[in-house]
Amino acid sequence: MRRFDDATHQHCLLVAGLAAAFGGSLGFGPADRHRLTRAALLHDVGKIKIPPAILNKPGKLDAEETALMRTHAALGYAMLGGNGFDDEILAVVRSHHEMLDGSGYPDGLVGHKIPDLVRLVTVCDVYGALIERRPYRAPVPAENAYETLRGMTGRLDAHLVSAFKPVTDAFLLSNISVLTAETR
Ligand SMILES: [Fe+2]
Ligand SMILES: [Fe+2]
Repeated sequence: MRRFDDATHQHCLLVAGLAAAFGGSLGFGPADRHRLTRAALLHDVGKIKIPPAILNKPGKLDAEETALMRTHAALGYAMLGGNGFDDEILAVVRSHHEMLDGSGYPDGLVGHKIPDLVRLVTVCDVYGALIERRPYRAPVPAENAYETLRGMTGRLDAHLVSAFKPVTDAFLLSNISVLTAETR
């Protein structure tokens, strides 16, 4: 991933860091925290199959480009399948863009069909993506990014979004500025 695209690599590290903090904040034991962090680190592995010109396009993607970008979830799942990764991690790679109301991709899963580990990573992924610099926009200030998560009621798990608040507070206190690009 690092060799392929630095911004995507940085994004995966950021989401993994947020996931590690989230697991700790939720009181997960070492094994669950490790699984969550590992899943987060791998969630966008399919992006190495997406042309860099689309990945880092300095503007909105058109419909065709969006469709191609969205293949990264199923491509990552296909890449890791049969290589000793457990089903929970594979589900995160495939389903991290699914939304509770069925508006996500690639399978349009609804509510309870989306496993807990996937929901956890999705919250971290959406937040991480907001606070990153993208080729087409400046980072959303961390204090506003949490409000955006809150506004995604019905799409993200509301209990998990509430539980994520202490993680974002700690992130604000740490005063880290995130300079990486990408992910849609
Ligand atoms: Fe993704
Ligand atoms: Fe992502």
